[in-house]
Amino acid sequence: MSDLVRVGLVGVGIIARTHLEVLAEQARISLEFTVDPHLTERTAFRGTVPPHYSALPDALEAHHPDLVVIATPTDTHAGLAAQALTQSSARVLVEKPLVHDLDSLARLRSLEGTADVRGRVCVAHHFAFSPEVRWAAEQIADHPDWGPVTGITSAFHDPYVLRGEQAFASYISSWMDSGVNQLSMLARFVELMALTSVRHMDDGASAWCTVAYRSRGTVGTARLRTSWLTGSSSKETLLTFGRSGVEIWIDHTAMTGFAARGGRLLATHGHDGRTPRKVAHYRPLYASLLSDEPDPVLGFDTATAVTEIHHATPPPGADA
Ligand SMILES: NC(=O)c1ccc[n+]([C@@H]2O[C@H](COP(=O)([O-])OP(=O)(O)OC[C@H]3O[C@@H](n4cnc5c(N)ncnc54)[C@H](O)[C@@H]3O)[C@@H](O)[C@H]2O)c1
Repeated sequence: MSDLVRVGLVGVGIIARTHLEVLAEQARISLEFTVDPHLTERTAFRGTVPPHYSALPDALEAHHPDLVVIATPTDTHAGLAAQALTQSSARVLVEKPLVHDLDSLARLRSLEGTADVRGRVCVAHHFAFSPEVRWAAEQIADHPDWGPVTGITSAFHDPYVLRGEQAFASYISSWMDSGVNQLSMLARFVELMALTSVRHMDDGASAWCTVAYRSRGTVGTARLRTSWLTGSSSKETLLTFGRSGVEIWIDHTAMTGFAARGGRLLATHGHDGRTPRKVAHYRPLYASLLSDEPDPVLGFDTATAVTEIHHATPPPGADA
């Protein structure tokens, strides 16, 4: 990307605040425009108030952004990404999940002949950049003697139960919203293979899914729980290395972790206590996105692989 990066922000809701906070830290970023049909107050950015539009095509007629950030409700991602791809030459950062169904993924892929979809579309798989996740990935890379990851249990709880219909409108279901975070996070540790079972509960506010993965030549099962039926945010993952008896426990809410073998503590990861969680995710995400070699976890190919597992229909009886 060039030195000056002209950004257009589409969707000025909750997560857009984090994008704006992190973008404002970088002098090379200029916010060219915002788009949101429901905005009541214009968005200030480093002391300026960029032009605002109700619809993306109007903004793209008037501006030539280098980067379009799409932070809108999940079921609008694919349509807006297609507009950005065909009506601008910008790189497109789409909030996760990239799409809400496989038809939308196919429609985006079908644009490959007319736009460089694989080269221009990135997906904000922000959990893969969380400090405790990067720490755990380093531990695994540094300790081949621990052997393969033989078991994974991950539970992501978000307190959306009181947000009712608004939560479903923005995020669709707990599996749609958090499942993609779990899968993109696990892609740091293991090679994801297939969704082996899916059980939606509580009208979509909870789910229990299993995913087959490969780690150092061994196949294992990840057990993934997601739910909005909680009073507070709570997200943890346990990685088990059965052959060596090592376990890595990471707390994504506190951004902490430790590794232990039996009663012996092997390594720990603490947090600085100053950086808010979402900033701690999006700061390294943007540093990577704006670098010469963005992390593959942001790329369209990773998003395609994650989406195909996320939306797969396991054969009956394939339950792990
Ligand atoms: N909230 C989070 O913590 C979080 C974290 C990471 C990713 N995300 C993802 O970001 C996306 C948005 O989530 P959110 O929490 O900010 O939702 P939100 O409902 O708070 O904000 C979405 C905004 O998009 C606007 N919008 C709707 N249709 C639009 C359109 N066609 N063009 C432009 N703007 C439009 C809405 O008016 C709203 O202001 C979701 O896909 C979600 O999965 C959210």
